[in-house]
Amino acid sequence: MDLKLLTEQVVELSRNVGQLIRIEVDKLSESDVEYKGTHNLVSYVDKKSEDMLITELGKMLPEAGFIAEEDDQLPRGKRYNWIVDPLDGTTNFIHKIPLYSISIALNDGDKTVLGVVYEINLKECFYAWKGGPALMNGDKIHVTETAILDKSLIATGFPYYDYSKLDPYLALFKDLMQSSRGVRRLGSAAVDLAYVAAGRFELFYEYGLNPWDVAAGALIVKQAGGVVTKFHGEPGFVFGKEIVASNSKVHKEFLEKLAHYFIS
Ligand code: IPD
Ligand code: CA
Ligand code: CA
Repeated sequence: MDLKLLTEQVVELSRNVGQLIRIEVDKLSESDVEYKGTHNLVSYVDKKSEDMLITELGKMLPEAGFIAEEDDQLPRGKRYNWIVDPLDGTTNFIHKIPLYSISIALNDGDKTVLGVVYEINLKECFYAWKGGPALMNGDKIHVTETAILDKSLIATGFPYYDYSKLDPYLALFKDLMQSSRGVRRLGSAAVDLAYVAAGRFELFYEYGLNPWDVAAGALIVKQAGGVVTKFHGEPGFVFGKEIVASNSKVHKEFLEKLAHYFIS
């Protein structure tokens, strides 16, 4: 399989579907908003985007199955599976805050071999494939060399439905407010990860995420020289519902700080 070529095809597809999402945002009204759960929003645009992506990805690699956010009835592949978030940052999208993305990964067994994150409004496409560089709109990207949290800008996502770890989350947040350059909540986990890869953030952490939020971005971080683990340094972050992605240099300091609040 030519992973570079396949990645380029997925990049083009993301740009095309992203263009359609940009058009839909102006038409969207509150009556288009549906609830999948408490504070978990979705619109017809998420579903339309997913349908288009599934159709085209299916043509690119007919033997692959799908793990996609808006349809859990899609067939799984024996070896290959596309992991698709058709609109990451739906709450931003619905509130017309211009930061949301498309996230597409391809897994070969349990290994991610291709990842594309397209930030729809700035038209920045971040992508990587196994064994290749990490790129943004054709230019190589790399994580930063920053070695301490005190000089780091950190991204996170606030819990919005699973409040089981809210106390340790807030205690860590309070600590980081005082021990880093600041903490940002952009509203798209895929973009948070892409920004770590591009050297805009030193680190991103969040719990309660799904494979479609993280699979693509995590591969891009790794190919850009970063490190990705679960909260206590373990692998298995794609399906593991918690993630820390960093430039590698601040990873240990962060995990030690986190362990102080999140007892494993
Ligand atoms: C959400 C975004 C957000 C993160 C949430 C995700 P969605 O995805 O990635 O940044 O904090 O946990 O669910 O629902 O907009 O695709
Ligand atoms: Ca998402
Ligand atoms: Ca989504």
